[in-house]
Amino acid sequence: MNENEDSVELRYKDHVKQLKIIQGTDGNKAVDISNLKQETGFITYDPGYQNTSAYKSGISFVDGEKGILRYRGIPIEELATKSTFVETAYLLIYGNLPEKKELHTFSRHLNEYSLLHEDMVHFFHNIPQHAHPMATLSMMVNGLSIFYKDAFDLEGEFTGKEPLDITIARLISIIRTIAAFSYKKYKGEPFVYPRPDLKYCANFLNMMFSNPVNPYEIADEDVKLLNILLTVHADHEQNCSTSTVKLVGSSRVNLYASICSGICALWGPLHGGANQKVIEMLYNIKRDNLTIKDVLEKAKRKSEPYRLMGVGHRVYKTFDPRAKILKDICATRLTNDRRLDPYFEIALELEHSILKDDYFIERNLYPNVDFYSGLLYRSLGIPTNMFTVMFAIGRIPGWIAQWKEMRDSTSKIGRPRQVYVGNNLDHYVPLDLRGQK
Ligand code: CMC
Repeated sequence: MNENEDSVELRYKDHVKQLKIIQGTDGNKAVDISNLKQETGFITYDPGYQNTSAYKSGISFVDGEKGILRYRGIPIEELATKSTFVETAYLLIYGNLPEKKELHTFSRHLNEYSLLHEDMVHFFHNIPQHAHPMATLSMMVNGLSIFYKDAFDLEGEFTGKEPLDITIARLISIIRTIAAFSYKKYKGEPFVYPRPDLKYCANFLNMMFSNPVNPYEIADEDVKLLNILLTVHADHEQNCSTSTVKLVGSSRVNLYASICSGICALWGPLHGGANQKVIEMLYNIKRDNLTIKDVLEKAKRKSEPYRLMGVGHRVYKTFDPRAKILKDICATRLTNDRRLDPYFEIALELEHSILKDDYFIERNLYPNVDFYSGLLYRSLGIPTNMFTVMFAIGRIPGWIAQWKEMRDSTSKIGRPRQVYVGNNLDHYVPLDLRGQK
């Protein structure tokens, strides 16, 4: 391919095809192959979409070589330390930091629409106590389509009966209520309803940890930490779950169903489910008295499916800026006597060894956001099987923003191609003649 200013040439046999270059921000560029099939007969092959962008997007910017993440142009480090989750959610969804009045209205909506329909509360009575909270969450979020159908008509289009802003606020707010209720169900304690006098993160902690005989004191530092954790998870451009939300949403199904599909995609251990697996990995190392050397060797052996959880990333090839933010917090929070966590020591030792090991160096494998997030959720008292639910609460604004951006543009239904490698033309053989060929 020869690159000139605004196109590249694709040569095959005696044909030359000009392919347009699309210029993005900050040096991003792409070759437009959308008409390749019609004009040349070729499709492209890209397993795992490693090099394919299906969308133009102005929400998150990731530079995997430099370890940069920005939401709407603002570095994640600034948002994590100076903003709140609610303000960041507004930024992602509406494209700008909110003015005072806008933030006030948004927060008011989050309060007004935080209650789960009482008939849905009854759902919890029939869920087995030890159900995985991600199964409960996805089921409940899809269930919102049953109870809040004024948000869309049967084809999934917004009817205007309920403004989209209300549906968005309800989703951000109610996911927190569902998550806290599923924990209460697991504990066998009465549900604690959202309180209008509390802000988003404080409200969640109160719903999780207060009960009638043990009032819970909400510590400012815990609220601050939860804001940071949710903010660093709030968006991450076209990852597996976000792409799922968009692929499903591109069929014009309603927002709740689209987000439910994202929750399911997030659950997998290669994606958001890794945060639970990291703690299980650290637990196993401690319980079985494994050496770090042995663990690394096991992760390198191709004969075993074992991987180091919370390590590696499709895009980040030097470091994950989210992991850096969380590691720094661990270093102050988890080393004081009150919260000393032996797993943090093991995690540090593991990271130290990874960074010196040729296998991980050659493959650019570094700790990712999930490596340290679980340790911090633990320090808030959140149980291990809820870590991925916490990721989902954080990612909700990103999913909504990406879904909304797609729906506001002239997007097409998502429909990848395939390279067919199956049988050539064959013919039906009646059952009694089979095996006689
Ligand atoms: N432990 C050991 N080897 C690994 C690991 C790991 N965690 N991750 C990748 N590799 C090896 C892999 O075996 C392959 O080696 P080789 O070239 O010899 O075949 C090479 O590195 C490239 O791996 P890949 O699977 O082709 O890379 P990918 O971009 O398709 O996968 C990943 C990225 C995140 C799924 C993968 O690194 C992984 O499985 N990590 C562990 C799970 C995890 O922490 N997931 C959370 C990701 S960050 C949060 C989020 O956004 O979801």
